[in-house]
Amino acid sequence: MLSSIRNTIVYEPIKVLVIGSGGREHALCWKLAQSPLVRRLYCAPGNGGTDLVAKTENVAIAVDDSHALTQFAVTNKIDLVVVGPDNPLANGIVDIMEGCGLRVFGPNKAAARLEWSKAYAKEVMKAAGIPTARFYTCDSYDSGAEHVKQNSWARVVKVDGLALGKGVYVCDSEEETLEALAEVFASRRFGDAGNCVVLEERLAGEEISLLTFCDGKRLVPMPPCQDHKRRFAGDKGANTGGMGAFSPVDLYESCKNEISSQVLVPLERALNDGTLFYKGILYIGLMMVPGECTQAQKYNPYVLEFNARFGDPETQALLPRLRSDLLPVLWACTEGTLDETRLEWSTDVSCCVVAVTQSYPGASSKGDDIVLGALPPGTTLFHSGTALVNGKLQTAGGRILSVTGMAPSMEVAVHNAYLGLRAVSFANMDFRCDIARRAKAQCRSN
Ligand code: AMP
Ligand code: GLY
Repeated sequence: MLSSIRNTIVYEPIKVLVIGSGGREHALCWKLAQSPLVRRLYCAPGNGGTDLVAKTENVAIAVDDSHALTQFAVTNKIDLVVVGPDNPLANGIVDIMEGCGLRVFGPNKAAARLEWSKAYAKEVMKAAGIPTARFYTCDSYDSGAEHVKQNSWARVVKVDGLALGKGVYVCDSEEETLEALAEVFASRRFGDAGNCVVLEERLAGEEISLLTFCDGKRLVPMPPCQDHKRRFAGDKGANTGGMGAFSPVDLYESCKNEISSQVLVPLERALNDGTLFYKGILYIGLMMVPGECTQAQKYNPYVLEFNARFGDPETQALLPRLRSDLLPVLWACTEGTLDETRLEWSTDVSCCVVAVTQSYPGASSKGDDIVLGALPPGTTLFHSGTALVNGKLQTAGGRILSVTGMAPSMEVAVHNAYLGLRAVSFANMDFRCDIARRAKAQCRSN
């Protein structure tokens, strides 16, 4: 009940624990700290940026130490826990914490399976009638290889379990697909996560990340967003956690009804008929595939994947656009009362550019000094792999920090983000120079 939080909070603002250490968690703390309903924030383990957010204190507990995190939350009488990354969700942190009477924003282990098992996610989509690429699930090289040889559509290899964003191979030929299969099954590179593989049809189109709030019964979408997963400009190089993001995605407006009727409505039906249990963020990764050529180009939505959490860096592009207080909506998701919540988003658009070390995603950097100058107006800085060491800001990861630019037009938002990055320096700093270029291309073709 939203009213219940209002009543509690009017008299006694609450304490929130955010779990994670990336740019996503910095953005969550930054936004939650602005809430008059929040008294105190803890971030475990946090980073050099969360340490500096108002009302916020870093807590040195690792994200996979569910028991220490639970003990901390119980001892400190935390009113709401917000889980950032996928691993603790897959490890069942929500089940453990809820078992101790804590209120947690995020799905339990069984629900988070939508992210930690790609094979399960495909079965859910199939059962709910949600459009998705054709697929075949296999648990050995031989059965997978036979299928690849017999089906020219099978060109995407996906490791079933969590694989740090590295378990998807989008291949150009039968030979390459067989190599990917061999790498997964023979090298055991992914451990148990690679015991099962989903072979998929390769789709071509425009990707949209649609993050939705879910309270168990309904889905409330945030504005659409687009991530840049490849390491180098022109979408070249290895897949990464994400090199930048922008919001909104213009294409979404013309496809909104199809996405709603073909994806959101079937998901809500599954939530309400008891075949799907879920609360938290349901992140829907969509491929918008152009239909047969007609005068007005039409796109059909296909779901590529689900994530059970806020995206990173998507959250850094989205939260600066959220005008409303974030706390009541997170609370409503835990109460099943999203219908009572209204969200207001800025009409200003956003562009987030991630600064990494040159060796990312291969290696990360530690202990190099970071110099921060004054940020220009229209920008927000979010830290990812940074640490405050004896009061000095240093590198501590692969993705180091990001700047989000906001403005009435994408052109200016992009300009602001890159201008903001000029105020930052650290050894071997690198970033993609084409973030949101697709947004501008889409604008021009509309
Ligand atoms: P995922 O981890 O499932 O989001 O996949 C990572 C990236 O691989 C996606 O963002 C897409 O760019 C690409 N991808 C995944 N599945 C497909 C597919 N069926 N067809 C084409 N590209 C795909
Ligand atoms: N940026 C992609 C993700 O958060 O999964």
